[in-house]
Order: sequence, then C-alpha cells, then structure tokens
Amino acid sequence: MPKLLLLEAMGNTGEYVLDAARDLGVEVIVVTHEDVYEDWYSPELKAKIGHYAKLVFTDFSDSEGALRQLEELARTEEVDGVVACWEFLTPLVARLAADLGLPGNDSSRALSCRNKRIMARAFAESGIPAPATVAARTVEEAYGLVRAAGLAYPVVVKPSEQSGSWGVSVVHSDEELAAAFATAQSHLFQDPHGIPLDAHVVIQEYVGGVEFSIEVVVVRGVATPLIPYDKFTTGGAKRAEFGHTVPAELDEASVRTLQQAAVAAVRALGVTNGVAHTELKLLADGTTRIIELGARLPGDHVVALMRQARGIDEARIYVQIALGLEPSLTPTADTAAGIRFLTPPRGGTLRSVSGIGESGAVVRSRLTVEPGGQVRAPGDNDSRVGYVILHADTAAEVNVAAAQVLADVTVEVV
Ligand SMILES: Nc1ncnc2c1ncn2[C@@H]1O[C@H](COP(=O)(O)OP(=O)(O)OP(=O)(O)O)[C@@H](O)[C@H]1O
Ligand SMILES: [Mg+2]
Repeated sequence: MPKLLLLEAMGNTGEYVLDAARDLGVEVIVVTHEDVYEDWYSPELKAKIGHYAKLVFTDFSDSEGALRQLEELARTEEVDGVVACWEFLTPLVARLAADLGLPGNDSSRALSCRNKRIMARAFAESGIPAPATVAARTVEEAYGLVRAAGLAYPVVVKPSEQSGSWGVSVVHSDEELAAAFATAQSHLFQDPHGIPLDAHVVIQEYVGGVEFSIEVVVVRGVATPLIPYDKFTTGGAKRAEFGHTVPAELDEASVRTLQQAAVAAVRALGVTNGVAHTELKLLADGTTRIIELGARLPGDHVVALMRQARGIDEARIYVQIALGLEPSLTPTADTAAGIRFLTPPRGGTLRSVSGIGESGAVVRSRLTVEPGGQVRAPGDNDSRVGYVILHADTAAEVNVAAAQVLADVTVEVV
C-alpha cells in the first residue's frame, strides 16, 4: 500500500485529499500541530483521520526543525509521496520532496509560489505579464519606490505572504496608502501555526479587466491547463471573494489565452509536479495579467465544483502525481457548478441565517459559524458565515440560481 505524508489537513482541501487517498488505497500520515488539531480540526475531519489515517505532531513555526523531523519520519515510514493542503507549507513540502527524491516542485524556486514579492520578481525576470510591483518595509520607502516606478493611483497594497485577501486594499492617495500599509504589516505571523512572515509590503499597479482562476496540472514537467472559471470578488477598497463558477462562460480564444498565460506562469515559478492554482485577469484588449499563483489545490471547495461540473477530481490527481502515478485529466461531464459565500452585513454576533431556498440547483448549503458566534465585517475571506453549492447544466443557469439564492438569504447580526 503506497504511503503519503499530508502536511496540514485543516482547510477544505485536506478532506478532499484524505477521501481521494482512501479511494486510491493509499495510507496517509497527517502532520499538524497538537494545539491546531485540538482547536481547529472539525469533529468530521478528526473522525476521518481516526478512521483511515495516522496522525503526527510537529511545530511548523520552526521550518528547519520540522523539515528534519519529517525527513526522518518519511524515511522510517518509507513514505512514497508528500503533499501540502495548506499554502503556507508549499515551500516546506518542495524541500521535503527534493531531499527525499520524491515528485515535487523546484525547491529553489518554491518561495516564489508563496511570497508575492518574490513572485513578482520571478514574473518580471521571465517576462510574464503581471502587475508592475514594488515592495517596501516602511511607508516612506514605499512612497519613494512608487514614484520611482512611475506607479499612479489607484494601487493595490498587500502583505507579501498572507492569503484569503487578508490585508489587501485598493488605495487612491498617499494617506490611504499609509493606512493600508500599516494594515498589511500588522500581522507578521501566520495563525494558527505561528509561521513568521516577510515584513515587506507589496504595492502593485491596479489592473482592470475581469478576473478568472485556472488550475494547471503538471506531471514530471509537462503542464496541462484545466478549464478557467469565474472568481467573483467584491469591488471597492477591500477585495473579498464571494463566489466561483466552473466553468467561466468564455469564447475559445479567451480560454486559450488564459490557459497559455497560466502555463507560462507555472514554468516561470518552477512548478514541475502537482497542481498549481492561478488567478489572472483578462483585459479588454485580450491580454492577461497574472495576479498570483499558488503551488496548491484550489480552496473554497473548488475541488468539489470541478468534480461535479466536469468529473475531474483535482485532489485525486494531486495524490497520484505526488506518488509518481499517471493521473487522468479527461472530463467525464460537461455541466457547471458554483459556490457562493454567505456574508454578514457588518461585524457582530451572528443571530441567524434564513431564506436558503429549495432551488433545484442547490446541492449543498452549510453554515460555517454557529448562531451566537462572532463574525467579522465583510472585507476579507474570514467574514464568511457559510456557503451554498449549486449545480446545473450551464454556467448561466448556475449564475442565475446563485443570484436568486443570495437575494433570498438574510444574515442577521446583532
Ligand atoms: N494588482 C491588482 N490589480 C487588480 N486587482 C487586484 C490586484 N491584486 C489583487 N487584486 C484583487 O484582490 C484580490 C485578492 O488579492 P490576492 O489574490 O493578491 O490576495 P490573496 O490574499 O492571495 O487573496 P485570495 O486568497 O482571496 O486570492 C484578487 O483576487 C484581485 O481581485
Ligand atoms: Mg489570491
């Protein structure tokens, strides 16, 4: 039975990878921190691990110590593959795979898939179309670099190494830049593992156009793009995702343009084995700009959407590539699926969520915060209180049904 080391199962991709491994007859060792396991793992996830995985604790805040411990564990257990289900651990998993001689990404470039400052440099060096970017440690330095680079407002301010749209702001003036800079720099450790983060703040040209996501599957350096899908993000100063629809309704030329851009980005950042998630914008003139790339599965239950809409199981593919097996990328369905997040009108205590109708397109709805729980004001992905997954024959039908669901739902906060 092949053995897989899975770094951090928290977050929704962990469950999909555990299920895929079970279906493939693969033994899994889940690695996390003891406190994270106690405080953050849902009862369902704990039950899954209890039924068909082993559990090992480590301290990811000490990446060198974790690397040594996990290398020894992998050798003792004769592990056949390593995966990460949490983006912050993708550089560690690349080093681990390289040291163990297992399929993985170019470990010398793995940080460029995680750190937006280093990513921007790698894109520039490879001529990949991406927003003009500078990175500064102080706001005074930022003003100077913005001017020297000829960047004009609006610009986007974001931390080098966060995720979930946390600390991402679109700003229109020096004053707004100073405030956004302070927010972006206010959290220099990644919860809940306490991983130290780069203190540089990234300032980017604001790129218009329409945003899409796309995954690229890479098997021993051969990159195959999947179908692009919609990434719906709020407008205004704060950018938070409010949903995704698989696939995007696009003409064939646009699909090809996005796929070629994503494959070029994958090559530029040294993704040689696995799945890479890219977010990119398509401009009115038909050109693209890559916003970011993560050497990881997509979050936000997109794994379930892709499976439902196209019959492609990205978690299974990820496990197979990590084990050196050949995945199947052939779609077995030609339908559409979407997710929409339920968000409160403001921060406070969640009182109720009502009005999720029985529309035929809704296949699953979940509250992720119990009534009585604290909720954050809308602004980043942490303000979600639940989600609805929809499935229909076409993306247009999914989008119409999703708009109706969001119009009918009331999230009450006191
Ligand atoms: N340079 C830019 N120009 C235009 N919009 C941008 C730019 N950078 C970021 N955005 C918008 O803000 C969103 C969040 O930014 P980004 O993806 O860099 O942060 P993140 O923390 O990785 O977020 P997430 O995990 O939600 O994707 C993007 O999906 C995009 O809609
Ligand atoms: Mg992003």
